[in-house]
Amino acid sequence: MVSLNYNNILKVKEGLNEKELLQYQKKFVEFHNNLNQKIKDKSGMLGWATLPYENFEVDKILKMVRQVKNKFDTLLVLGIGGSALGNIALQTALRDKFWNSMTKQQRKGYLKLYVFDNVDPDTAKSLLHHIDIKKTLINVISKAGDTAETLATFFIFYNELVKKVGKLRAKKHIIITTGPKTGFLRELVNKGYSQYDFTIPENVGGRFSVLSPVGLVSAALTGINIKKLLEGAKNIAELCKVGKDVDTKQMFGNPAFMFALINYLLYQKGKHICVMLPYSDRLYGFADWFRQLWAESLGKEKDNNGNIVNVGPTPIKALGVTDQHSQLQLYREGPNNKLIVFLSVEKFSCEIKIPKFAEEHYLCSHTLNELFKAEEKATIASLTQAKRPNMNIILPKIDEVSIGELIYMLELATAYAGELFNIDAFNQPGVVLGKNYTYALLGRKGYEVYLDELKKFM
Ligand code: PA5
Repeated sequence: MVSLNYNNILKVKEGLNEKELLQYQKKFVEFHNNLNQKIKDKSGMLGWATLPYENFEVDKILKMVRQVKNKFDTLLVLGIGGSALGNIALQTALRDKFWNSMTKQQRKGYLKLYVFDNVDPDTAKSLLHHIDIKKTLINVISKAGDTAETLATFFIFYNELVKKVGKLRAKKHIIITTGPKTGFLRELVNKGYSQYDFTIPENVGGRFSVLSPVGLVSAALTGINIKKLLEGAKNIAELCKVGKDVDTKQMFGNPAFMFALINYLLYQKGKHICVMLPYSDRLYGFADWFRQLWAESLGKEKDNNGNIVNVGPTPIKALGVTDQHSQLQLYREGPNNKLIVFLSVEKFSCEIKIPKFAEEHYLCSHTLNELFKAEEKATIASLTQAKRPNMNIILPKIDEVSIGELIYMLELATAYAGELFNIDAFNQPGVVLGKNYTYALLGRKGYEVYLDELKKFM
C-alpha cells in the first residue's frame, strides 16, 4: 500500500521532533471527528470522501464505454482546473506515454485522449487540424456548467462537429459531465444535446472530483480499470478510518494526517513552500494535480472565525531526475524555506539494462532503474545533509490501486490540513471572483456590478 516515510523530518535540525508531533494527538481525534460528522450529515463539501464506497455512476460509465468503444477513435475532454487536471494525471500515470500514437489494435479499441484545458487559440487551431472530429467523442466537463473557458471551447468544437456530421448526428458525439441542477450545461442536457450525461454530485468540489465521473469517464474510455482506482481509494479510507472513530494512538498510523500535520508544523516554522518531486515521469501529472488541490484548498484570506490570515503553503512541482539539473541547487543551498516531498516508486513496470559499450565504463554494469534509484537516494541524502526537511510518499508500483490510494491520501490530507489551518479547504472565493470579473468583461447579464468594481483596478 502507498505509505509515508517522514524519518528525515525527524532527522534534520530544521525539521520537527517527536514531541512536537505528539502534541497534536488530541487535535487529531477532534479534527477526525469533525470531518466524520460533516461526512455523516452531508454538510459541507465532503462528498468525495464516500465516493469509493458508492461506485457513483460507475456502471453507467462502463455501459457507455461498451457502447462507444469501437465506434470512435478519439476522446476530447474540455474542462479546466479540477475538471481537467485529474484526467491528465490519470492518463499520464496509467497509460503509455505514446498512447495517442498507438494503433487502435494496440489500444485494444480504447480511445486516444486529448485534454484541452486552456483557451489558447494556437492550441485550439492545432487540435482542430489534428483530430478527426467525425471519429471524436467530446466530453465537456464543468461542475458549475457555466465556466467561460470550457463553454467557449465547447462551442468551437461543437460547431466543427455540426459542420462535419450535421446537427442531428452531433448529439451522438457529446458527453456532458456537470452539476446536478443548474448551469448552462445542465440546460443542454435537459434540451437533449448530449447522448450521454454524467452528474457531479453537489457536495463534490472540482479539485476533489477525480474519482467522480469527472475523472472516471475519460479513464474508462482509455481502458483504465476504474473499479480498481476506487478500490485503492477505499484502502486508504479504511486505513485512516474515515467514517469511524479513532483514538490518539492512531495518529502516527494515519499517513494523510501525518502528511498534513508535518506540512502545517513546518509552515509555522517558515517552510512556506512544498515541493512535490516525483521520481517517475508517470507521476508528474500528479504533482500538477496536487498543486491545484493544495493551493486552491489552503490558500485563504480568512480563517473560519473571519480573521484575515492570508495563509497557505505554496506548492511547487518538480521532476526527478530532470530537475536535479535545474532546481536542486536552489533547494539545497538557497533559502531553507521548503518541505520537499519525494514521490518514490519501488518497482517500475520494467527493467532496462545499460548495455556494454565498446569502451569500459562503470555505468555498463547497471540498469536504468538502479541509476534512477541511486540519483533519488543521492538527492535525499544531499538535502538531508544540508538540513532540508524532506519526506517520501512511497508507491509499491504504479497501477490503478496505488494511484487510487495516492489520490485519496492527498485529498484526505488536504481536508485535515484545512482543519489544522482553521480555514475552509473546500471553497475558492478567489477563483470565483476571477470568473465573475471575466463574465463582466465579456458582457454577461447580471454581472455588471463587477465591471464597476474591476475598472478601479485596471
Ligand atoms: O476546484 C475547483 O472548484 C475549481 O478549480 C474548478 O474545478 C474550476 O474552476 C472549473 O470549474 P467548473 O468545473 O465548474 O467549470
